[in-house]
Amino acid sequence: MTSHELHQPVLLVEALRLLAPAPNGSFIDATIGRGGHAEEILRRTGPSGRLLGIDADPEAIEGSRRHLAEFGDRVVLWEGYFDQLTMAAQTHRFNGVEGILFDLGVSSPQLREPKRGFSFQAPGPLDMRMGPSAGATAGDLVNSASEAELIRIFSEYGEEHYARRIARAIVRARSTRRLDSTEELSRLVAESVPRSSRIHPATRVFQALRIATNDELRRLREALPQARALLGNGGRLVVISFHSLEDRLVKRFLQTESRGCVCPPDIPICVCGKNPSLRILTRKPLRPSDEERRANPRSRSAKLRAAEVIHQQGGE
Ligand SMILES: C[S@@+](CC[C@H](N)C(=O)[O-])C[C@H]1O[C@@H](n2cnc3c(N)ncnc32)[C@H](O)[C@@H]1O
Repeated sequence: MTSHELHQPVLLVEALRLLAPAPNGSFIDATIGRGGHAEEILRRTGPSGRLLGIDADPEAIEGSRRHLAEFGDRVVLWEGYFDQLTMAAQTHRFNGVEGILFDLGVSSPQLREPKRGFSFQAPGPLDMRMGPSAGATAGDLVNSASEAELIRIFSEYGEEHYARRIARAIVRARSTRRLDSTEELSRLVAESVPRSSRIHPATRVFQALRIATNDELRRLREALPQARALLGNGGRLVVISFHSLEDRLVKRFLQTESRGCVCPPDIPICVCGKNPSLRILTRKPLRPSDEERRANPRSRSAKLRAAEVIHQQGGE
């Protein structure tokens, strides 16, 4: 792999400890990227364990294909968004698997590639789609969303304090021309907010646009129950997130699935019949060590949560 293609897997040791891959096990990596986590899972599941790797980005799929070539037909790759997890798994007969990993967000190669438009630091088109099937680009959104919608996106997904000012500046600018480049948007944002020394003023706006362009939260919300259903008894779900909204969504899903009866307290006997289906393995989310943060600044905001399927009688 060239240095341009490299992606340093985040929380690798912790993810492997919790996924606990053993010889001949079947696993799904729902965000395979360049195959960093997948490679280690495959090493531990030899000689005949299988891994289904999913990614919306055709370049990631191609990168993984090359990176994981030594594992031959133990690896199956599927290009698409992970809210289609059930379909991908059924197509390739991955049911009752031992573990599923989600390592959310963008990879370093995606951030480094100017033509993808993820970075405000490199001149490029305002694209930001993880994969071509996302449809509209970030540029389409910036040029067509109403001012109110832009405010919602920047404040909700970017927790941007100056969402109103930025949205107003965009609407004013686009009345005379189409905003199509990362440089132009980044400059516009920088000019509409007071100078902050900590982070680049466009950081939050770019993050928010990426989340909106790829409908990231909806896809995660829809993928988690699918992942739960694909795990066999004792199967492990591991999710690494980089944004507080993603982490909150994962935390709530795990809490709901690990709870039994949800009947209102004034009902004397349980009528819902709900049994807990997951046991949470990380009471608090795991964070990267100081050493990892120093070595890989992209890991700084990572949080890992994991859970295990509770053995059900009559289950697999
Ligand atoms: C942080 S990287 C994963 C890196 C990988 N674990 C590794 O070690 O190389 C996240 C990957 O997930 C993909 N991705 C993000 N959201 C996705 C989604 N909703 N569906 C499918 N792929 C997604 C991105 O295209 C990216 O390649």
